[in-house]
Formats: sequence, structure tokens, C-alpha cells
Amino acid sequence: MGQKGATLWFTGLSGSGKSTIAVEVELALLEKDKVAYRLDGDNIRHGLNRNLGFSPEDRTENIRRIGEVTKLFADAGVISLCSFISPYKADRDEVRSIHLEHGIPFIEVYVDCPLAEAEKRDPKGFYKKARSGEIKGFTGIDAPYEAPNDMEIHLRTDQLSLTEECGKIINFLSENSYI
Ligand code: ADX
Repeated sequence: MGQKGATLWFTGLSGSGKSTIAVEVELALLEKDKVAYRLDGDNIRHGLNRNLGFSPEDRTENIRRIGEVTKLFADAGVISLCSFISPYKADRDEVRSIHLEHGIPFIEVYVDCPLAEAEKRDPKGFYKKARSGEIKGFTGIDAPYEAPNDMEIHLRTDQLSLTEECGKIINFLSENSYI
């Protein structure tokens, strides 16, 4: 296939830029004739995980199932791009260990954006609703986000351009001979 299957795992606050970066990286990979696929809330929370909400237990189960699915994609040789808040470190570490047990690369990308900036962007209007109390348990407002400290790639999305962010990821993949 001219590539090694791997999971790129984008974690960060809602509105931090996870999906935007994943789309850009997917495009860059496809242009290099690499096989890539994106998993995100749109294709997972409306299908496989449509019976899950945002309680701590449901978020853990959300990430566990996605972890198993992305491991299969990566095992099939695909570069799988997963964009989920995944607020709990233990859940991300569990997905990492499932990958490592099977010798599949797991690349955690911390999409780091200060809450004030994510809230200013508010692309889906969720922060406004969370502040007014219309939504309860929103990550960053009244539900926790545990930032990673052992990620492979750290992107400050309030300081870098989309092109720079994408470039860092593509460089990481080629330096490690995944592509
Ligand atoms: S995770 O916490 O279980 O990893 P996931 O990434 O799947 O979350 O979904 C997050 C998206 O769901 C947000 O970007 C937002 O659009 C929506 N959402 C709805 N309710 C919440 C909530 N209480 N907390 C966070 N995101 C929410």
C-alpha cells in the first residue's frame, strides 16, 4: 500500500479545530495517493454510537467503541483520523494501549486552544447555550477536559495557521516512515 496503517487521534475542546485539521490532513494524504479515512461525531454519534449521550459513562463508552473501530481501520492499512473531544486521559490511554498491543501506531494530537478562544469561535453555538444553562455538562464549562501531557504532536491552534498544523502532522508521518 505504500503506507503503514495508523491512528491519528485528535483531542481537544469543542471548537478547538480538530475536524478542520483532520479534513486538511486527509486531503494532503489523498493528494499523495495515501488511503485515509475520518471518523468524527458526524459519522459515529449519528450511527454506531447514537444510543450514547454525554454523561461520563457514555463518553467513556463512546471513546472505547471508536478506539476499537479505528484500530480495525489502521489494521487494514488505512490512516485513520479520529476527531473527538475525548476529555478523559484514561480513555485515551486505553485506546493507545489497544493499538500498542497490536503493534499499530497511535499518534495523539493535542489540538490545544484556550477556552476563551474556542468560546469566541463557538461554531455550533454550544458554548452560548452552555453558559445560559440550556445545555448541562458541556466540556470546558461545567464538565472537565483533561489535557494530555504525553502527546506525540502538540498544536496551538490560536498561534499556528492551518497549513502549519497540517505540515507538522505530515512531517511526523513521513519522519516515522508511516507514509
Ligand atoms: S466526547 O466527549 O464523547 O469525546 P464527542 O467528540 O463525541 O465528545 O462529541 C462532542 C460534540 O458533541 C461537540 O463538539 C458538540 O458539538 C456536541 N455536544 C453536545 N453536547 C455536548 C456536551 N455536553 N459536551 C461536549 N460536547 C457536546
